[in-house]
Amino acid sequence: MKSLCMQRKSIRKFKEDPVSETMERALLESAMQAPSATNQQPWEFIVIRHKGILKELSSVSKGAWPLKGAPFCIVSLMRETGRKSNMRPQDMGASTENILLEATYQGLGGVWIGVYPEEDRIAKIKSILDIDDKLTPFNMIAIGVPEASENTPITRRFDETRIKRID
Ligand SMILES: Cc1cc2nc3c(=O)[nH]c(=O)nc-3n(C[C@H](O)[C@H](O)[C@H](O)COP(=O)(O)O)c2cc1C
Repeated sequence: MKSLCMQRKSIRKFKEDPVSETMERALLESAMQAPSATNQQPWEFIVIRHKGILKELSSVSKGAWPLKGAPFCIVSLMRETGRKSNMRPQDMGASTENILLEATYQGLGGVWIGVYPEEDRIAKIKSILDIDDKLTPFNMIAIGVPEASENTPITRRFDETRIKRID
């Protein structure tokens, strides 16, 4: 059995099946279990199932189209913590990867749709979701049960030349 890291890949097409609230909770618990600088936990999340809003969000950027067919999406928001401000994006990335790995574990699939630091995308999302000025949209994660056509082999990327050893 391959590890979750080796099973995960981006899923952009989804079945109609809904994602249960138990699964939603597991995704958010894993998100908040991520490591963060000084344990500052700069994250907040908006869970969106509303079809109309998902459609609006799918027009935020060229790569956001998977949201249109997703049953569910998590918008990650980065907030000021008054601590390690410049490390917050790394914290948010760790939290996002936890969501994607948890989705894989649950038999779901998802894709990270990039937002931060693109100012135009941040502004569009703030306006669609009426987000407080203290919060910065970081990314959108489309999640659902993978469509059968997504069942393609995972490309292995291991590259020995990227590794130097100091013994
Ligand atoms: C910062 C970031 C932004 C991304 N933005 C998008 C996006 O806007 N739309 C999309 O379909 N995929 C997006 N992806 C997913 C990448 O395209 C994907 O991870 C990459 O092609 C590797 O494929 P894999 O996830 O299947 O391993 C993004 C990934 C990252 C980490």
